[in-house]
Amino acid sequence: MNIRTFELERVQSLYENTVPYNLTESGFHPYTLEQLLSPDELSEMNKIVLGYGQTNGAVSLRQTISNLYIDFSKENILVTNGSSEANYVICHTLLEKGDEVVMMVPNYMQIWGIAEEMGCLPKPFHLKEENGWRPDLEELASLVNEKTKMIVICNPNNPTGYVLSKDEMTAIVTIAEKHGSWIFADEIYRGAELNGPEGISFAGMYDKAVVNGGLSKSYALPGLRIGWLAGPQSVIADCWAYHDYTSITTNMLGEYVAEIALKPEKRAIILNRNRKMLRENLELATSWAVGYSDMISFIPPQAGGMLFLHYSFPKNSSDLSDWLRLEKGVFIVAGDVYGMDHHLRIGIGAEKEVLVKSFKLVSEGFKELF
Ligand SMILES: Cc1ncc(COP(=O)(O)O)c(C=O)c1O
Repeated sequence: MNIRTFELERVQSLYENTVPYNLTESGFHPYTLEQLLSPDELSEMNKIVLGYGQTNGAVSLRQTISNLYIDFSKENILVTNGSSEANYVICHTLLEKGDEVVMMVPNYMQIWGIAEEMGCLPKPFHLKEENGWRPDLEELASLVNEKTKMIVICNPNNPTGYVLSKDEMTAIVTIAEKHGSWIFADEIYRGAELNGPEGISFAGMYDKAVVNGGLSKSYALPGLRIGWLAGPQSVIADCWAYHDYTSITTNMLGEYVAEIALKPEKRAIILNRNRKMLRENLELATSWAVGYSDMISFIPPQAGGMLFLHYSFPKNSSDLSDWLRLEKGVFIVAGDVYGMDHHLRIGIGAEKEVLVKSFKLVSEGFKELF
């Protein structure tokens, strides 16, 4: 097998559901069906025939999703099993062996692994911690050339919570345009901005821009496994052709719930619930971190469900993560899985009580260790 272990997903799969305290949730504490749906909607659900759905997504769901973008219609949308399938499908549709892929890092590293496995050459351009996680656009410009098939963005960014400004997005489009490269933006955290309006999408900014989206993060519905690709109709048609070979279709129950969650009123309720959670939990995390200001620092996230903190004590992040999990029952993803030792990824989309208890246990651990 020619694919590297996807460390981030592997550690989460191993420990997320088995530790007493998960302080590294990547999204928001998920809804139950009862919390999300009305009794009428729940009883409608009982009548759903469990057949195959339309393989590119139900017409009405694609129409609803297309309304999240400017001037898009249902033909611009392919519904997928989570945005992870969207990422897989776009890579296999656009990339060929030998292509170069320039990718924003740190990042959810799925596309890095897929690109390598396909015989492409992934190259990193960096968000700079010393610049408040602003992207190094000079570095990007220096890496992109006629061999660059795709520039991969994660905006809002996992794990830093950085959101690109409109000017930065325009600059990235200009660099891509110069060399005819595709832009693929993972926008699964769009809608989870702590403050201010919802972020802008790359979709429609450039005729070679494709984005993903999905209900796993900003909508707190990861178990539905509903994601999508949004982009130019011709490339979406090609992605659909590839998708027929991956999983055929998503699932009728997930599509039914997705359509309800994406209705404007319900969508606003969900996003507001999660943004409120983020603001409160960020405050909590900040007041905890203040007690360790000589050894912990972080740039407050602008969006997303996590903060990426830097620590200065002399312990490797995987060792620290393992120790906290085994000795204190608290799971925190190590910066190592992003190739960034001396960082930890704290989830701030969890329930407040989980955070309070977890921080208490981590503090106990720090007392024993340092
Ligand atoms: C940035 C990013 N993209 C995509 C995914 C995949 O999400 P899903 O397949 O649940 O939609 C994740 C999951 O953690 C993620 O963080």
